[in-house]
Amino acid sequence: MAWWKNAVIYQIYPKSFMDSNGDGIGDLKGIEQKLDYLKQLGVDALWLSPIYLSPQVDNGYDITNYRQVDPHFGTNADLAQLIAASHQRGIKIIMDMVANHTSDQSPWFLESKRSRDNYFSDFYIWRDPKPNGDPPNNWGSNFGGSAWEYVPKRKQYYLHYYAKEQPDLNWENPLVRQAIYDMMRYWKAHHVDGWRMDVITSISKDQRFLDYPNPHHLSVVMGNQNNGPRMHEFIHEMHNEVLGPFSMLSIGESPAATSTDARLLVDPSREELDMIFTFEHMHVDRQPGNINGRWAIQPINVVQLKQTLAKWQDALRDHGWNALYFENHDRARTPSRWGNDLHYRYESATAFATVLHGLQGTPFIYQGEEIGMTNPHFSLADYEDIELKTNYEKLVNQQKTISSDNFLKAARKISRDNARTPMQWNDSPNAGFTSGQPWFKLNPNYPQVNVAADQQAAKSVFRYYQRLIHLRHTQDILTTGQFELLLPDDPHLFVYRRVLDHMQWLVMANLSAEQQTLTDFPTSGEIVIANYPDLQVGQNVQVNVLRPYEAAIIALPD
Ligand code: GLC
Ligand code: CA
Repeated sequence: MAWWKNAVIYQIYPKSFMDSNGDGIGDLKGIEQKLDYLKQLGVDALWLSPIYLSPQVDNGYDITNYRQVDPHFGTNADLAQLIAASHQRGIKIIMDMVANHTSDQSPWFLESKRSRDNYFSDFYIWRDPKPNGDPPNNWGSNFGGSAWEYVPKRKQYYLHYYAKEQPDLNWENPLVRQAIYDMMRYWKAHHVDGWRMDVITSISKDQRFLDYPNPHHLSVVMGNQNNGPRMHEFIHEMHNEVLGPFSMLSIGESPAATSTDARLLVDPSREELDMIFTFEHMHVDRQPGNINGRWAIQPINVVQLKQTLAKWQDALRDHGWNALYFENHDRARTPSRWGNDLHYRYESATAFATVLHGLQGTPFIYQGEEIGMTNPHFSLADYEDIELKTNYEKLVNQQKTISSDNFLKAARKISRDNARTPMQWNDSPNAGFTSGQPWFKLNPNYPQVNVAADQQAAKSVFRYYQRLIHLRHTQDILTTGQFELLLPDDPHLFVYRRVLDHMQWLVMANLSAEQQTLTDFPTSGEIVIANYPDLQVGQNVQVNVLRPYEAAIIALPD
C-alpha cells in the first residue's frame, strides 16, 4: 500500500508558522525548531506553502525563481537542512508547485514581454486586442477585473487568472512544460517527496478564447477557465516525465472539479495524479448563483456538506483516493466558520475533525487547526490579502452589489486571512511566534488559545488530533473500510458507518449547538474516540442523545 494512504499530512504556511530571527516573518529555521512538536502530533508529511523567491504579491504564489528560496524564508541550504532534519524524524516533505503562472518579475516573463520573437516570447499567453482595443475576451481574474493586461511594447494583452502580477504560463508550448518538469526533477534531486500543485486543473486553456455570454459586459470567472481541453494530456505527460519515474506524491488543487472529473484525474490506471483537493464541499455556506460569489454567505448546510462528501467517497471508491480537508491557507477556521467558537470551540473543532478523519482518504491538517485556532474579528483595515482587497474594490466600490458592512461580515467568516494570522505557540508577547514585529496581526485571543495552553487543558484539541492520527496509523478500517452515509437528510447529525470484514464502526457528530436525539439504528458499542470527557475510550455505551457538537466513533459488536 502506498505510504500516503494511512498518512496524515500537515500544511505549513511558512510566513505565519515560526520566526527564528526576529524579522517578524516565519522562516525555514523556525519550522525546523518545531519539528519535534510536529513529530509529537504524529503527522507523516509536511506540505510547505511556497517558499521560493517572490515579490510576495500573493504571499509567494507569485514566483520569480522556482529553484531559489526567498531570503525572507532563509536559504537553499536552510531548506536542505530542514528536509534532512524532517527525514531523520520520518517526516516527508511536500512542496507547493505553482505552475499555472509565475510572477511578472520572473526573468521568463521579463523576456517574454520584451518582444514577440525571443526564446521566451511564447512562454505566456499573448493575444491581440479586439479591433476597438478591448481585451481579447471577457474572462475575469479571480482577483477582480479582467483576466487580460495590456503591454504597449508588444501591443498585446497577456492572460492572468489571478493578479496581473501573476501571468499564466502557456502550457501549449512544449518548452514551458519541459522547464516545469526540469524544475520538478531538480527538487527531487534535493530529496523533496512530492507536490501540492496549485490550481493545476487550470493549466490548459481553450485556445478559441471565446467570450462568455454576458449581457452586463462584466469580467467574470467561469467554467472555461478550468479543466481545459488538454488538461488530462498535460498531467499525464507530467506523470510520465516526472511523477511516475521519480515516484513523487501528487495532490492537485482542482477548484471546479466534479466527482466525475476527479475520477479521471486520480484513477491510478490513467497515471495522472494521486489525489486532488476539491472545493465542492467548501461551498456549503455560500448562496448558490449569487453575483457576489463566495462573499454571499449563508449558514452552513449540513445536509449538503455530508451528501457532498459522501458522493465523493462513493465516486472514488476503488477508482482513486480522496484528499480530506476543511482548512488551509485559503479557508477560514472551522470552529468560527461552521462551528461555534464562542461556547463550543473545543467541541466544534473536534466534532468536525472526527467526521473528516473518519472518512476514506488522506486527511490534511492546516497549522493551528490542531489547537482549534479561530478567526480573528478584524476590521477592514487589518486585512492584507490581495484577494480580499481586489474583491472589495470590485464588489463594493465598482459593482456596488454588496454593502461594505456585509462584505466585512463575510470577510470575518470566510476570508483567507482568517487562516493566515501567526501560529499561537504560547501566551508570551506575539504568542511566541516572533521576538520582533509580526508581519501580520495576531488573533487577540492568543493568551487563551495557544499550543502550550491547549496541550495542558483538560479538553485538548491537540491530544484529540494525536489520537485521531494514531487511529489512522493503526486501524485498517479507516483506510480501507467501506463507507455508508446514515441519516442523509438529518439537518444536524453527520453519521456514517465504516465496515471492514466483520468490523463495523459508527462515526457520528452533532454539528449543532443543540442536543439531538439519535433514533433508527443501533448505537451501543465500544468507544473508539469521543470528545466529551465522560465517555472514555474502551467503555461500552449506548448513545441515544448527542450533546452540542458531541462526536464519537463507536465500534459496534460483531
Ligand atoms: C491557489 C492558492 C492561493 C493562490 C492561488 C493563485 O488557489 O491556494 O493561495 O492565491 O492559487 O496562485
Ligand atoms: Ca524570519
